[in-house]
Amino acid sequence: MTILVTGGLGFIGSHTAIELIESGHEVIILDNLINSKLEVLDKLFEITGKRPIFYQIDVTQQAALEEVFQSHRFDGAIHFAGLKAVGESVAKPLEYYYNNLVSTMVLSKLCLKYGVNKFVFSSSATVYGDQISPMREDMPLQRTTNPYGETKAMSERILMDTASVNPDFSVCLLRYFNPVGAHDSGLIGEDPNGIPNNLMPFVTKVAKKELDTLSVFGDDYDTIDGSGVRDYIHVVDLARGHLAAIEKMGPGVSIYNLGTGRGTSVLELVEAFTRVNNVVVPYEVVARRDGDIATSYADPTKAEEELGWSAQKDIEDMVGDAWRFEQQNK
Ligand code: NAD
Ligand code: UD1
Repeated sequence: MTILVTGGLGFIGSHTAIELIESGHEVIILDNLINSKLEVLDKLFEITGKRPIFYQIDVTQQAALEEVFQSHRFDGAIHFAGLKAVGESVAKPLEYYYNNLVSTMVLSKLCLKYGVNKFVFSSSATVYGDQISPMREDMPLQRTTNPYGETKAMSERILMDTASVNPDFSVCLLRYFNPVGAHDSGLIGEDPNGIPNNLMPFVTKVAKKELDTLSVFGDDYDTIDGSGVRDYIHVVDLARGHLAAIEKMGPGVSIYNLGTGRGTSVLELVEAFTRVNNVVVPYEVVARRDGDIATSYADPTKAEEELGWSAQKDIEDMVGDAWRFEQQNK
């Protein structure tokens, strides 16, 4: 298949491009480089031996995007392009609603116009809100606590409504849990700008002594050791979930959790990082972070049954690969 990958130079998109190329698909990448670097394209070539066609385009710009649709015949689109920092979304709501919603609408409009009938969307476990884990795809969605989360819930709704009146248009909503890790080549991984908000990139910066101490946000949750529990998933497993989705998605709308089904606490992750990488991660327990929930992990059964996909990598692989990338690339 020929697959359009928006946001394909970013963290998850670049790993997915590798899996698609290595499975024989042709990949065309669009990215405006707002949160990624052009050199990722060279890394994709180094890893796969193929250099995907790349357009530096903002997906919200319909005229520019339409020229790409006129130049290629796509069998499907995977839409990663989006802004993803929760805190920034609270400070800049209009930027987040505009970028994430307009990009989804413009892309789906052109997919309909040019007969591109498979649309895979990057959603998030954040749409479940604070419910009892394991999260299942048929749970009612809860209002999220920030504009970023709302853009995911709203994009899901926009795509479902669009699919319901366009029977040929198939939509697959993938709800990611907590993506971490890096490609085992050590060439690509997560490279956030500035001080990271998410746990794993913060831990790698502390291990590298670029930051002094990890703040553990709360040790009084009702969890195994009081710290927050999440379902960390290796980005390569996540990428393979997209390959399975685009190859096997059926008609209409399908929704899948992409998680491991296992919860790991903050303190367990720090312990695994220290043990596997033999490096010290100084930490201190501080107050809970606003908007955090105690526990979030997936029920991944549906993806296993319908897509034949399940996560294969464990927390040791995740902390090992994250550290290798940090050491090799910065
Ligand atoms: P990322 O920031 O590394 O990748 C997103 C890419 O999209 C970047 O390369 C960025 O330059 C590009 N982009 C953003 N807006 C664009 C636009 N208007 N036009 C063209 N390119 C644009 O993020 P990621 O971690 O790879 O996430 C990919 C998707 O998955 C995002 O939609 C994100 O919200 C979603 N998601 C991520 C996580 C996570 O923890 N990483 C969790 C759940 C969902
Ligand atoms: C966050 C977002 C979520 C988004 C996801 C992936 C919030 C409230 N939620 O999820 O919408 O989909 O990222 O991008 O921001 N922690 C620390 N110290 C740190 C950082 C994190 O103790 O410095 C803890 C958190 O309290 C949490 C766990 O580590 O228990 C994971 O945090 P994080 O990596 O930020 O992901 P989420 O909060 O699950």
